[in-house]
This record gives sequence, C-alpha cells and structure tokens, in this order.
Amino acid sequence: MSKPSSQIHRAWWKESSVYQIWPASFKDSNDDGIGDIPGIISKLDHIKNLGIDIVWLCPSYKSPQVDMGYDIADYYNIADEYGTVADVEKLIKGCHERGMKLLMDLVVNHTSDQHEWFKQSRSSKDNEYRNWYVWKPAKYDENGNRQPPNNWVSHFQGSVWEWDEHTGEYYLHLYATEQPDLNWEHPPVRKAVHDIMRFWLDKGASGFRMDVINFISKDQRFPDAPIKDPRTPWQWGDKYYANGPRLHEYLQDLGKILKEYDTFSVGEMPFVKDTQEVLRAVQYDRNEINMIFNFEHVDIDHGTYDKFEPGSWKLTDLKAFFETWQKFMYENDGWNALYWENHDQPRSVDRYTNAKEEDRVIASKMLATILALKAGSPFVYQGQEIGMANVPKEWDIEEYKDIDCLNHWIRLQKYRPTDTEAHKSAREEYQKKSRDNGRTPVQWSSAPNGGFTGPNVKPWMSVNPNYAQGINAETQVNDPKSTYNYWASVLRLRKQYLDIFVYGNYEMVDRDSQEVFAYTRQYEDQKALVVANWTDHELEWEPAAKGVKGIKEVIMDTYESVDDAKQRFSQDKWSLRPYEAAVFLIEP
Ligand code: NOJ
Repeated sequence: MSKPSSQIHRAWWKESSVYQIWPASFKDSNDDGIGDIPGIISKLDHIKNLGIDIVWLCPSYKSPQVDMGYDIADYYNIADEYGTVADVEKLIKGCHERGMKLLMDLVVNHTSDQHEWFKQSRSSKDNEYRNWYVWKPAKYDENGNRQPPNNWVSHFQGSVWEWDEHTGEYYLHLYATEQPDLNWEHPPVRKAVHDIMRFWLDKGASGFRMDVINFISKDQRFPDAPIKDPRTPWQWGDKYYANGPRLHEYLQDLGKILKEYDTFSVGEMPFVKDTQEVLRAVQYDRNEINMIFNFEHVDIDHGTYDKFEPGSWKLTDLKAFFETWQKFMYENDGWNALYWENHDQPRSVDRYTNAKEEDRVIASKMLATILALKAGSPFVYQGQEIGMANVPKEWDIEEYKDIDCLNHWIRLQKYRPTDTEAHKSAREEYQKKSRDNGRTPVQWSSAPNGGFTGPNVKPWMSVNPNYAQGINAETQVNDPKSTYNYWASVLRLRKQYLDIFVYGNYEMVDRDSQEVFAYTRQYEDQKALVVANWTDHELEWEPAAKGVKGIKEVIMDTYESVDDAKQRFSQDKWSLRPYEAAVFLIEP
C-alpha cells in the first residue's frame, strides 16, 4: 500500500545522490603516483554533471596508511600526500559553487596506534589517556601460558588482542594491530569525538559517513564468543560489540550535533540484520543518523566461515534482502542507503552479473537502474559510473595492496604452507572479492596510466589496462550511449519523478523469478514499473501475467531511446534483451 502524502516526511538528504571518493586512487595532480585533493577539485565537474548532490570524501587525515587512512593519527590535519586543510576548504568551496555538499568520513571506533592519544595511553598504566583505549590483563591457561582476554577474531585475521610488553596488558583492536579501539565508556573520548565533528562542520562539511559506527559500544564483560568455526581458536564476537548496549545513547549525542547543523549522515553497520534495531538509529524522529549501510547484499558471495572461500547465491536471495529493507523502512518512516560498490567491495558488474565482455556496458546500466530507482539515497562509488572492472585475472599477488587480503594470504601460507589447492582457491577468490578490486586508480582517459597520473609515473597501485578499451571517463563523457551518460540519465529520471522514485512505496513483481528483477514504486496515484532481465539471454516476459496492468508509457530503456522502444513494449508479451532494464509509467 502507498501512504497518503501527509504521512511522508520530505527531506533534502532523501532526495540527494552521493558520489564516493577514495582519495589515493581518484586523481593525482602532482605526479607522485598518489591521488590528492587538488586532483579531486580538478574533477568536480565530472561529478556534478553526473547529477550528484553530495561528495563523500573517504579519510584523508594524517595516517600511517596501514589501512589506507582508516587508521587516523590526527583528526585535525590532512595527510601530506593528499594535501592540506586549506585544500579541503577549497574542495568545500568548489562543491558549494556547483550546488554540491561535502561529506567527511568519521572514523572513531578506533584510531591509529600512532595517534598521540594512544602513544600516551600505552606509555604507562597511570597515564591520563590509559582509559581512552580498552586495556585488559592476560588470562592464563592450565599450563600457565599467557592468553588473550577472550577469543574474538579480528577483521584482519588473528586475535583482536595485542600484548603490550611495556605495561603488561593487552589492548583491543577489532581491525589491524595498528588500529586500537577507543573506549567509548570513557566520557572524554566521547567529548573528543564531538569536538572533531564540530571542527569539520564549522569548516563547511555537510555531515559524515561514520565508519563501523555500530561497534562503538561493547559488552563490558568481553565474554568469549560461541565457537562457529572449529578450525581456529578465533571466533566472531560481533554479538558482543555490534549494536552493543549503549549504542543508541552515544548516537543520540552525535545526533544532537548533526541536527544542529542540518547534516547528512550515514552509518556503516556490519553484521546487523535486525530491522527494528536499525530503525532505532534511522527512524525519522529518533534524530540519531539518517541511514545506514547494511551488508546482506554484499556478503552474498562469502563462504561459510570466510569471505575468501567460494560462496554462491541466487537472484531471489538478492531480491529478498532488498524487499525486506525497502518495505520496512517505507512502512516505519526510516530510510535506506543504496549501494552496490564502495572501497571495500569488488566491482558490481563482476560480482552481480555474469556479463561477458560484450555485455558489460549493458549490464552496468541495468545495475544502475535497479539501484537508483529504489527507495533511498543512491551512492555511486568512483569508477562505477564508467563501469570499472575487477583487477585482471593474470595479476600476481604483488599487485594486491590491501591489508585484509594480504593478511589472509600470509596466514594461509603460514598455517597451510603445502595446501596448494587452498592457495589456488584463495587466489581465485581474491580476484573476485578482495578490496583491491575497487581500489585501482580511476581511469580518466586513454592516455598512459589511464590519465590518473603522469605518463612516466609508477602509480601506487597499477591501473587496470582496460582503460584503453573504452573504460575511461573521457571516452564515456563524449559517448551518449556510455555507462557514464546512462548513470546521469537515471539520476535525472529519479529527480524528474521525485515523488515516485524518492517518496513512493516499493512492491516486488515476479518475486520468485531467478531471471527477472522487477518492482513497482507508487506515490498516491503516480506509479512506475522497473524491470530488468538479469540473464545473458533474451527472455519473454508478460507484465499482465505477473499482475502488472495498465502500462502507460516507457520512460527509460538501457538499449535504445524511449521512442525506439515504444513499439516493442506496446505488445502484451515483451522480449527483454540480455541484461536489459526498462522503466514505465503505469496505472495505479
Ligand atoms: C570500514 C571501512 O570501510 C574499511 O575500509 C576499514 O578497513 C574498516 N572499516 C576499519 O576502519
């Protein structure tokens, strides 16, 4: 059922589309092989012309870059390789001049071990910063061997606890050893986070993407996690730290500041599947955060115990995740963040379709259609707008740079040195799922290095050589049939029919099909149908047989102009081409 308009809360941030920038690989302006903020400024028109309202800048603060900036050593300064605070101010200005806003990344579950707070904290047990992090004494087994306080596994392999010889205690790090977790129980930590937020908001930032924000409150008993993976002592402790006991209290505090500045906020929330729990953070009147990134659709191809084990999925799984969140948020006055890609995920055409080379462009347009016309704020990750691909299969492990993937490889070699089958399988899975896939430099042109950096420079990470085959921005901006121009038209369509595509309801059509992804959106008496053929072959599809009646007009098609498509869609049975998506106005 669609709601009366009086029950719908309108908001500028619901209508916005976001473009995500991961600075190291966006655009290098000074030929040091690393992307930087002046490089971003030079490409703002590319983003604006796509129809974007908000630019999200991934962490650019001072950092030893163990985890590419998600290990922050100074929240008030910018990493030398990226620029200066003055450059960020220029970036904000450049965004504002084009009617866009800038979103910063708030990474406050942990800091770098090189942050001054942690250096102080580890210096002695009675240092005033000791309590800013989570320190615990050792446990001892029956043989008197020292053991970590519990069995939780780190997101980057091994125990979450690191022994500190100097003060004789363990500290907690849910991620890398060099990323100690802040202790949010300690009020000065919370105050310090509030100050950081105000600093950037006062500079003109319009809000934050909040890194693993649902991990900030931990069960203070730090109990052992249940054993799910019998092959290792280290187990997922998420039930004790994801959406922990004091999360909403902390989010309420952040929400007050966010409201004061009328910001956009999106929280990253791994592990949570409970819609009610998410609603407590994002429901309109809760004033915590606007929306979250959930993970079900990006965890879809993971193995039982491990992301880097083979996994399989069906189209109905993907549809079911979306249906749950779409309907629930609509019915309960919450909001969704919509994404296929980001800097932690592989490229969407490779993950969600089996498109062969000749179908890549059409498949990327299909994914754009299905994503952007759902209810929520769409996020486009750098390079997604030109259909960038995963790293080439031939690339050697030396080309991979990401700590998540490399730690996995190192441990595999250490603990299963002769298991060549496991090595081979892991290598195949890295090429499908490693974060490196989303981190190769953006391909700007057909010039050497894809125009990301100077022709004679060795970029910090190799450029995917397919920039020479049309996967580059310059070629695509000038080609009306490109993925880039299609993204621009789909984001325009979303705004043109704002009531339907932003504020309308969501109903699945042909739910059980493993070949077609279709849904309707309705706002009062305005209604649209979105249909996609998720296969590499032609399909016959009859809307009336699936309960869709009264097709009025085709308003978008991925293969041809609406004028050309008209004739084809005037029949009762439609022949949908491989990976075709089309959008229609229909009778309510
Ligand atoms: C999520 C970020 O997106 C990811 O890149 C990072 O490694 C972890 N959080 C830790 O900050």
